[in-house]
Amino acid sequence: MPDSPAKVALLASGRGSNLAALLAARERGELPVEFVLVASDKANAGALRLAEAANIPTLALDPRSYPDRRAFDLDLFARLAASGAEWLVLAGFMRILDGEALSPWIGRMINIHPSLLPKYRGLHTHRRALEANDPEHGASVHFVTAELDGGPVIAQARLPIEAGDDELQLAQRLLPLEHRLLPAVLGLLVSQRLQWHEHGPRFDGQPLLRPLTLGDDGSLSVK
Ligand code: GAR
Repeated sequence: MPDSPAKVALLASGRGSNLAALLAARERGELPVEFVLVASDKANAGALRLAEAANIPTLALDPRSYPDRRAFDLDLFARLAASGAEWLVLAGFMRILDGEALSPWIGRMINIHPSLLPKYRGLHTHRRALEANDPEHGASVHFVTAELDGGPVIAQARLPIEAGDDELQLAQRLLPLEHRLLPAVLGLLVSQRLQWHEHGPRFDGQPLLRPLTLGDDGSLSVK
């Protein structure tokens, strides 16, 4: 009997292209997970429509119907727990999370962020990399902690910034790399090759001293 696939819930506020990449990786047999819920703070999020088309349960919660952020987050995380999820993936979930509400998920929740963290936490990452004349840009997947975009970085995809790049071009060139990075990290996580540890992530039992790097072949390695 094969092991049962890891149960994953995903949170997204927008179009859901990273969800689509995860679903495609699963279809190809590269990601042994079961998506038990896709949740959003936006009822019109494309990610919800993608999930429905894939027969994945969905949940849309409107933050405006809660008295404050903590109340919303506590309800959201209670419902995520009730879904049976063992792992949470934030893929374009554009909300700051309450530290107390998220604390039970530390070590079991990852986020993809479009910058080479610790550079450019928060918004407008492509623009900020261009304005700083950075030679390269990228995306990071990190464990989520109470600090916004500040949890331990697991892996990164890097790409050179080219003369004449604008914000949109950079975002468009980065996105296909995100679509490889996120399934690769989730795969390591659910296989337990990558583990949260209070003193920093461990990869194959060893402390991860630097983020893993996405190679041209889509694999992650220590560089
Ligand atoms: C992605 O580029 C992701 O890195 C970014 O939102 C986009 C979601 O796209 N996340 C953040 O900015 C989080 N701070 P998608 O909905 O097509 O997956």
